Amino acid sequence: MSAESLVQLRGVRMHFFDKRGLVAQVLRHEAGAVHAVDDVDLDIPGGQIVGLVGESGSGKTTLGRTIVGLQRPTAGAVLFDGRDLGRASRAELRRLRRRMQMIFQEPHASLSPRHRVASLLSEPYRIHRISPEERSSVGELLEMVELSPEIASHFPHQLSGGQARRVGIARALALHPELVVADEPTSGLDASAAAAVLNLIKGLRERLGLTYLVITHDLNVVGYLAETIAVMYLGQLVEIGPAERIYESPAHPYTQALLSALPEPGDGRVERRLLLPGEIPSPRTPPAGCRFHTRCAYAQERSRLESPQLEQIEPDHLVACHFWREVRAAATASRPPERRRDGDSRH
Ligand SMILES: Nc1ncnc2c1ncn2[C@@H]1O[C@H](COP(=O)(O)OP(=O)(O)O)[C@@H](O)[C@H]1O
Ligand code: SF4
Ligand SMILES: [Mg+2]
Repeated sequence: MSAESLVQLRGVRMHFFDKRGLVAQVLRHEAGAVHAVDDVDLDIPGGQIVGLVGESGSGKTTLGRTIVGLQRPTAGAVLFDGRDLGRASRAELRRLRRRMQMIFQEPHASLSPRHRVASLLSEPYRIHRISPEERSSVGELLEMVELSPEIASHFPHQLSGGQARRVGIARALALHPELVVADEPTSGLDASAAAAVLNLIKGLRERLGLTYLVITHDLNVVGYLAETIAVMYLGQLVEIGPAERIYESPAHPYTQALLSALPEPGDGRVERRLLLPGEIPSPRTPPAGCRFHTRCAYAQERSRLESPQLEQIEPDHLVACHFWREVRAAATASRPPERRRDGDSRH
């Protein structure tokens, strides 16, 4: 797979040594650095949509920001088109960063409130000093994200959630990137606006030949889009595989929990409730052994002692669980038929 991969992550680690962590280290308290991302290996093949899923606090945004070069990893390497970002000169890094863009989670927060949409859309050109011939017009960018030309004169507060999200997408696409990292593209949107944004993302992939990493806490959202799904828990990838295999036959207990998440009742938004005991532990003090053992119904003594490594269980499908065979057998036996991918109604 790696020969054609646009992005290759090798042992990527991102620890935050904030003030609290430093004080704790000096005082030799257990709580130290925030282990936001630990030893992640992942390939994103050119032209694919890879879904990165996991509940809030699992390190998805941090990994996304690290991939597009917004922050340097504590350890490990990010390779884009074969080039190691950590070894690139400042000028080369600037050129590479044009080719990868992030759609930020909070569209309203990432759009300066005092600027009209037209100005917001040309801002990336000013920042990157793009010559006028190379620029797309505001009209072209709006058309690309299926917004009407009148939106150009609007201020961010005049935009609906879906429109603001589209302006964020247009801003990311202004520089004609090859890779787009979309952070929670449907968060805060109602079901129909969310579906429209996902369709737009998919359509733009076809039209512009984009490669995407789509970040979401909702496996049921990204299953519709992604060819490959990577599941993250407390800073580590626990399962990676073709989307249909992840749906049909999830091998990690955490993936199974994500798949069984229920829609929040009532408000029509796409947030879901996870059927898992307890909260995600603090990334300052990740549990020893398997990080999931404090919440896992299948945990055994070995889970507490030994950290499971990702192992290949079928072509392109990797899982980090000592007991994935038992887990998968139990899930297949107990799964009601309506949970099956072909029979469900996520679309
Ligand atoms: N700049 C930072 N300084 C300290 N901790 C951070 C920083 N950024 C993120 N974190 C912590 O790292 C962990 C992972 O965060 P994040 O990547 O935002 O997860 P997700 O996007 O999956 O919700 C969280 O515990 C978060 O509080
Ligand atoms: S290794 Fe143990 S605790 Fe970790 S996911 Fe597998 S069964 Fe659960
Ligand atoms: Mg996030």
